[in-house]
Amino acid sequence: MTDVEAPHLHVTRTAYDTVAADYAEMFRDELAGKPVERAMLAAFAELVLADGGGPVGDLGCGTGRVTGHLATLGLDALGVDLSPGMLAQARRDHPGLRFAEGTITALDLADAELAGVLGWYSVIHTPPEEQEPVFAEFARVLRPGGRLLLGFQVGEDQKVRLEQAYGHEVSYDVYRLSPDRVIADLRDNGFVLHARVVREPEGWEKTSQCYVLATRAATAR
Ligand SMILES: C[S@@+](CC[C@H](N)C(=O)[O-])C[C@H]1O[C@@H](n2cnc3c(N)ncnc32)[C@H](O)[C@@H]1O
Repeated sequence: MTDVEAPHLHVTRTAYDTVAADYAEMFRDELAGKPVERAMLAAFAELVLADGGGPVGDLGCGTGRVTGHLATLGLDALGVDLSPGMLAQARRDHPGLRFAEGTITALDLADAELAGVLGWYSVIHTPPEEQEPVFAEFARVLRPGGRLLLGFQVGEDQKVRLEQAYGHEVSYDVYRLSPDRVIADLRDNGFVLHARVVREPEGWEKTSQCYVLATRAATAR
């Protein structure tokens, strides 16, 4: 981690440390009722395995609920997250998996170390104008031909301030992202689009949800 930390990293970490136990409880079984999300994760896993497999990073893994799901799909999944509180939940729920503290803005992973990167609702706390370097970092740690799957709430890159979350008083920002802008940024960083799926809001959701599956080109930017 750098000496001078971006302000959004500090506030995001503090917020997730605060809500970690309740987040784990609320979302532990959420995927069971999400067939579209499971389909995207299954497609991602199938593509990684068809390419010969290899380590897959759930980057911004939170409580590890999706890291665990990736492992059940046969992937060699590891998790990285900013929040020690979220990671404590992940290690408790998934004692057989590897989890490390870190930031998607500067990953402690070697060039081309991963066969797959999952960014499942984890870039949503990075201001949109600062996301391109994150996608460059995803490209750096992915091997050529490696697969990327992103999940995020759809919007026009607008900021939403959260003062209450998961039963706690908090203070942090989430961004509803433009799929076109995300995909353009990915292309600028050497990714080829494979699929874009937009699901209508359901339950308590206020926006559509977008899942973007892409492949790191043989020669990144
Ligand atoms: C909405 S939660 C999603 C967690 C998990 N992917 C899931 O679907 O349950 C967002 C997570 O991203 C993490 N996060 C946000 N910004 C991050 C960053 N710059 N580096 C690493 N993790 C980050 C937060 O700590 C939090 O655990």
